[in-house]
Amino acid sequence: MKNTLFQQDILTADQFDRSLLDMVLNTARKMRTVVLKKGCTDILKGKIVTALFYEPSSRTFSSFITAAQRLGAGFIPLQGVTYSSVSKGETLPDTIRTFASYSDAIVLRHSEVGAARIAADFSPKPVINAGDGVGEHPTQALLDMFTIVDTFGSADNLTVTMVGDLLNGRTIHSLSRLLALYKNVQVDLVSPSLLKLPEGLKNTLQKRGLVIHEYEKLDDALKSTDVLYVTRVQKERFTDLDMYEQLKHKYIITSDTLHNMKKSAVVLHPFPRVGEIEFEVDLDPRALYINGQMVNGMYVRMAILALVLKKTV
Ligand code: NCD
Repeated sequence: MKNTLFQQDILTADQFDRSLLDMVLNTARKMRTVVLKKGCTDILKGKIVTALFYEPSSRTFSSFITAAQRLGAGFIPLQGVTYSSVSKGETLPDTIRTFASYSDAIVLRHSEVGAARIAADFSPKPVINAGDGVGEHPTQALLDMFTIVDTFGSADNLTVTMVGDLLNGRTIHSLSRLLALYKNVQVDLVSPSLLKLPEGLKNTLQKRGLVIHEYEKLDDALKSTDVLYVTRVQKERFTDLDMYEQLKHKYIITSDTLHNMKKSAVVLHPFPRVGEIEFEVDLDPRALYINGQMVNGMYVRMAILALVLKKTV
């Protein structure tokens, strides 16, 4: 299949159709084999990747950096912009044009919805959206899909239950778009009424064929769940911190929760968790947020960098 991601920006999950998604997942599988067999390769030797992160990150930042390293690329790591000219008031376009002069791709995390799109408009080099405010987080969604498809063989016919801050959670906004590419997928949305999935996105997803149910109680959705996707209430998006305190622990996943789920069901979380999943759950083999999503993030980001920077992978 032709690599249509070559030299392309990755800004939204909407730019993926099933065949493009399958290409990324297949390439991620190849990357897994490379890492398990040899640790690294040099297919991106001579390339440089900038990771420009205006918001905090552990996994996304370090998995992109390690992905670049394992592919033989160099990188410019800018985590927190305190030590760049952004702290002197430099605009996003100027910052982007600077790093586009030095590197072959820019991975950007920013607090504003649409920032990656603006960056792409100014950048002669591909821009990869690593989270734009409450907008999207397409590479997280790709690694979530990799984890789901790796577990179930496909996402067709699954019931995915999304729990927590569906209003502000950008991982949810991207993952739900990718799930709509599969057949007969049901998405159960569990959130406090103040943190429901934006109505516009819900309508779009329904038009694309997702069967969506909304609940306030997690128990109402558990029995039929195949994938329980848990998210943190996004404190940094709240102006009213009392409200955050009231909402933050409405849903807590415990061993009992797992007990009430199908034996085959799995638990995902993009992390960081701040109390939504009890530590006791980590011991259950169905908890894929540590032994699954984390390492898959590296394979998927290797695939993305390779496809964006190399014509044939
Ligand atoms: C997520 C994010 O930044 O949106 N983290 C991540 O990239 N794995 C989820 C979150 O911060 O809650």
